[in-house]
Amino acid sequence: MWKFFYIFILFEFINCDDGKYQDLQFLFVHGNDPEEFDAFYFNETQKLISHSKYDKNQPTMLYGYGYTENFLRKSTQTIIKAYIKRGDHNILVVEWSKYSGGNYYFDAIPNARGVGDKVGQQLWKMKDVGFNLDNFHLVGHSLGGQLVGFIGRAVFKYSSNNYKMPKITALDPAGPLMYGINGMIWKPLSKDDAKVVHVIHTDSNFFGAPSRCGTADFWPNGGKEQPSCPKANWDVNNEDNFCSHRRSWMYYAESVENVNQKTFLAVPCTSWSDFQNNNCPGNETSSRGFMGIDAAANLIGDYYLQTNPNPPYNRGSRGIFFDEIDENF
Ligand SMILES: *[C@@H]1O[C@H](CO)[C@@H](O)[C@H](O)[C@H]1NC(C)=O
Ligand SMILES: *[C@@H]1O[C@H](CO)[C@@H](O)[C@H](O)[C@H]1NC(C)=O
Repeated sequence: MWKFFYIFILFEFINCDDGKYQDLQFLFVHGNDPEEFDAFYFNETQKLISHSKYDKNQPTMLYGYGYTENFLRKSTQTIIKAYIKRGDHNILVVEWSKYSGGNYYFDAIPNARGVGDKVGQQLWKMKDVGFNLDNFHLVGHSLGGQLVGFIGRAVFKYSSNNYKMPKITALDPAGPLMYGINGMIWKPLSKDDAKVVHVIHTDSNFFGAPSRCGTADFWPNGGKEQPSCPKANWDVNNEDNFCSHRRSWMYYAESVENVNQKTFLAVPCTSWSDFQNNNCPGNETSSRGFMGIDAAANLIGDYYLQTNPNPPYNRGSRGIFFDEIDENF
């Protein structure tokens, strides 16, 4: 076992050659069709910033999809549609579909780390051609939630530890084989990967990160399983098992779509059972926050809320008072 482990580490070092990941792209979605984009290799970012539809003064959302996913998958498309509807962001997607699949442990996780490093290096270069990194928001789901952590960490590294990306939002960042003993190898998403790291936990029992990993962590419905989702087990061939994991991007997309209203009110709390008993010390109005795109940068710690079991998921101000009926839907 240990012999194998060391060979694996060695393999990892050999793997770190610079020739890899030359074909990564940024996909720029700028119209009303969520499936339509212009693609830019990293040596073409000058063209991206001079694109007539790229608005340097608007925030830019850079999205990372997860394991085996790609641009056309429902999670990616739902997030893009929500941002199109919102209409106040440049929308970029990391095109890494050639690397996001394969064996989860031996291909996809190391590739997420390698791709993250490359993208971070690239972002740090892009500031020299006029991109304002302070306007960037990294968003990722599942392994993409880990990818955006690696990106943020790489920007910090390539800036000689001088600059951190302003904000990461990780949507149920991948948990399996990333934590515990594996955490020492992979060093998964942490609160240090950007100035602000928001994490939405929806499936921390199975496919999501098991514990706190942001500057602020949100635990809708307790963060372990989501209402109206079937009871999950480890069978990855059963689509039902991803129900809670997927809610993370559904909640987030709903918050993005609601331009005129802040959604998903949440309270700081110590645990789900305390929340269920309306026993959240320090829950006064001033310490409440919102989950999703409206989450304020200064939130710190764990936040709890309840959602509706079906869309629209946002319960507004009712979301901070536990309602047993809806939970047992
Ligand atoms: C840019 O990168 C792509 C992908 O590696 C490559 O095919 C292309 O030749 C490069 N273009 C220039 C101008 O270097
Ligand atoms: C907030 O605290 C007050 C007083 O301590 C309590 O009555 C109320 O139920 C709490 N609300 C929540 C959501 O915990």
